[in-house]
Amino acid sequence: MSSSAKPIKGMSDLFSPEVDVWQTLEFRAREVMRRFDFREVRTPIVEPVEVYMHSLGDSSEIVEKQMYAFETRGGTRVCLRPEGTAGVMRFVSGRLQEMRDARLYYAGPMFRAERPQAGRKRQFHQFGVESLGEASPLRDAETIALQAALFEAWELGEVSFQLNTRGSLEDFPRILEGLREELAPRREALCEECRRRLDANVLRILDCKVPGCREIVAGLPPITQWMAPESVGYFEEVRRALDTFGVEYTVNPLLVRGLDYYEHTIWEVTSEALGAQDAVSGGGRYVVHAGGKAIEGVGFGIGMERVVMALPEEVKAAFAREGLPLVSLVSLDDAARADNLTRMGRLRAAGHRVRMDLDGRSLKAQMKAASRHGARFAVVVGESEVAAGTVQLRDMETGEQREVAAGALADELAAAGGA
Ligand code: HAM
Repeated sequence: MSSSAKPIKGMSDLFSPEVDVWQTLEFRAREVMRRFDFREVRTPIVEPVEVYMHSLGDSSEIVEKQMYAFETRGGTRVCLRPEGTAGVMRFVSGRLQEMRDARLYYAGPMFRAERPQAGRKRQFHQFGVESLGEASPLRDAETIALQAALFEAWELGEVSFQLNTRGSLEDFPRILEGLREELAPRREALCEECRRRLDANVLRILDCKVPGCREIVAGLPPITQWMAPESVGYFEEVRRALDTFGVEYTVNPLLVRGLDYYEHTIWEVTSEALGAQDAVSGGGRYVVHAGGKAIEGVGFGIGMERVVMALPEEVKAAFAREGLPLVSLVSLDDAARADNLTRMGRLRAAGHRVRMDLDGRSLKAQMKAASRHGARFAVVVGESEVAAGTVQLRDMETGEQREVAAGALADELAAAGGA
């Protein structure tokens, strides 16, 4: 491929058969959303930078390093959305009365200026959910159960739900101070990044991957010790509700999540089928400031590329085939072609997926094209079929061919799995 035919580094073109897998995932996701009564919202991909500055927190890695931000010709600072929650909150902030208990979902591309590697892209796609409303352990647990239902519908196989609490916003100063006191004497043993985090973002030290830092973190008391009893009780209620909903999870006391808007329940779902970037999704309860209002809710974002990577091969193959099989009409002469043109319209009206040669090519070329397009059936028509009012129906997988009355073709195809 010439370099001009390639997309920008860290971004991908999506085409068949992979895009067929995505469509099946999206179709099934919408079904699950309908059952849980969530509605789709489509917000712009470009937002004013303030939408993200005020909600994700200035010290979050995304705002600090990963936003594609630029100035429009009119001089407005805008950015490509790095995630979905903040834009959805901007949308909600204008209609808070009707949206106070809204249940929303979204799907689409997100952009982060990261160093591309397996499972980490600059343009990636999220399927996200936001369930609005005050802190309620039941709402948090229902949202986690929704995510489990999604993964089941996607036949994702082995995944692990890692759960933790960050405590309430009121607990934060105590937690941060407690952590700083514990860590300050070890400052020199921390990695350079964590030494900086000690002042700016001390919570993130808990999930640092550097071995020296991990060792120090392992000796820390759990952050629940700095939380009010109500916060600890809140988390216990979430866990009880998850048991009621039948969702399996592990409590991971070192999980903190990278965005500043979270409080109370947070979670991440990991898959062993992935490499270093093993988080298929992340979510939690949040307070986001938008349009001068503090909006509360709970939600999650799923990385679709990582879902596709984590899907078992046989499921992926089945998802790629899901949908209508293709019927290819093959014409031996002009009269047959005229016959097939009418037939194509009738079959499509009956719900079949049909294409035929429009270039007057030879029988051999038409059959070759039919298999190149992945046709499941070929319908071959020549002079004698036109005269007899029949067609030859060929199963492209088995090579079996039989004569069928033209009027019975639509039903025959349906019976054979054609629509
Ligand atoms: P996040 O953890 O930043 O959360 O992203 C969610 C998921 O998006 C990740 O678990 C991962 O699967 C995927 N992802 C993130 N960055 C990349 C990348 N560069 N390449 C490929 N996949 C990626 C959020 O975005 C929150 N808005 C989730 C949320 C919604 N919390 C509450 N509501």
